[in-house]
Amino acid sequence: MSPVLFASPLVFSPASAALFSYSATTCWKFRGHHILIMTLDVLRVTVDTVLTTTGSSAMSPTDPTSDELIRLDWGWPSLELNPIAGFQASSLSFFAEADKVQSALHYGSFAGSDEVRETYAKFFSHQRAEALEAEQIFITSGAGAAMGLLCDIHAERGQSVLTQGATYQNALKIFASRQLHVEPIAELPGGDMDLTALDALLSRERERFALIYLIPTFANPTGRTLDIDTRRALVTLAQRHEILIIADEVYHPLHFSDDVPPPPVLSHFDETGRFVVSLGSFTKIGAPGLRLGWAETGKSPDDHRDSGNLITQLSQHGTVQNGGCLNHMTSMLVAEFIRTGGLSHHLSNLRRTYRERSRVLHKALTERLSPEFISVKEVSGGYYLWLEPSEVLTGSMTALAEAAERHGIRYRAGNQFVPPHHPDETVVSHGIRLCFAFYPPRELQLGAARLTRAIIETVSGERA
Ligand SMILES: Cc1ncc(COP(=O)(O)O)c(C=O)c1O
Repeated sequence: MSPVLFASPLVFSPASAALFSYSATTCWKFRGHHILIMTLDVLRVTVDTVLTTTGSSAMSPTDPTSDELIRLDWGWPSLELNPIAGFQASSLSFFAEADKVQSALHYGSFAGSDEVRETYAKFFSHQRAEALEAEQIFITSGAGAAMGLLCDIHAERGQSVLTQGATYQNALKIFASRQLHVEPIAELPGGDMDLTALDALLSRERERFALIYLIPTFANPTGRTLDIDTRRALVTLAQRHEILIIADEVYHPLHFSDDVPPPPVLSHFDETGRFVVSLGSFTKIGAPGLRLGWAETGKSPDDHRDSGNLITQLSQHGTVQNGGCLNHMTSMLVAEFIRTGGLSHHLSNLRRTYRERSRVLHKALTERLSPEFISVKEVSGGYYLWLEPSEVLTGSMTALAEAAERHGIRYRAGNQFVPPHHPDETVVSHGIRLCFAFYPPRELQLGAARLTRAIIETVSGERA
């Protein structure tokens, strides 16, 4: 590997400087800091107390008094962003109207009240600049709960679910709790799904598979988004093999730029309404405690006897027939929140804030870590940055996780997103998922600094 020269001097803490003195070409002291102009043969790493000569005020020094663990493993929305005032205001006006409360206290219609579904359809049509009808929507008590219902309808114990190579860890639990196996879809070099191989597999062994589960947009954990051609090809494939695709689109509304929205949700391309269902959730765009989401299809049922349509199938599930709408009162409160403009305002705030947070974390990491060592992918939406270590680190992922704990930073290791009973040596199983949504910039910078120190320690084999 050729030597790497840092163009600008970097200021290091003495402890970190000691770790790299063997490879530094120049090292001198300035105002109590060791300054290094480095030529490194092995890797390029900078550390937490970096104050680059670019004058970046974004890099604040590590707070020596803070020993609290930073949980970048949590895929949670930020507590301080919760839309408390807006939700209070719309809920108070809702509860002030006795007829609304009366209807909220009664059973809701199976797929959700017409008024609620109309409000959601209008809201998302406007957000996406695409038509969505109320009849294409089924109200759920969250994306996870909807997956459970769809498994009840479409899967038999012992069958397999096909997923991306790395997928949402709790979806794996939902499938396991229904005694379903999970098999990753074959991938091409570079990580795209191999649709030719998938087509061939389904031609040979269709009966073995219950359904396909995908996260098409700003995926958890990799942040990847399927392009429009891939979406079309997947839908054609599902229609040809008559297999259900559950498209988990909970991050779809969280794109950072209105100018470059992601492609339409996967169900949009299924003009039959029979093979693809997209799941949305207010967990990531409202608050997790709402336990509210929706399922949508590309076509509404012709009537209640249209049993091939996925909205009809969900409406006929025994749990729904028993109690009506799965989260009736909350769905009405959220509809009111939408009507008062609260959700639109909140969503804009989330998009702006997450864009800033993702950039802060990306910058803090890429300023310190060379891609020859660990690559950090930039994202244009969602919750997560995905890091892929090079061979320098892949053999030491357990040691890295331990070092990270010692330095006060926790992340989610890639192997938690890989279906069980599959070879651990895939690229994704060595990856690292960091959530930028929960913490403000200060903690994200601190987290990046701590992770860098853990990496240095792991590679050098010395404790800092
Ligand atoms: C891909 C994905 N799907 C679903 C969920 C959970 O959605 P819900 O809270 O609506 O069940 C999450 C939350 O972390 C997620 O990352």
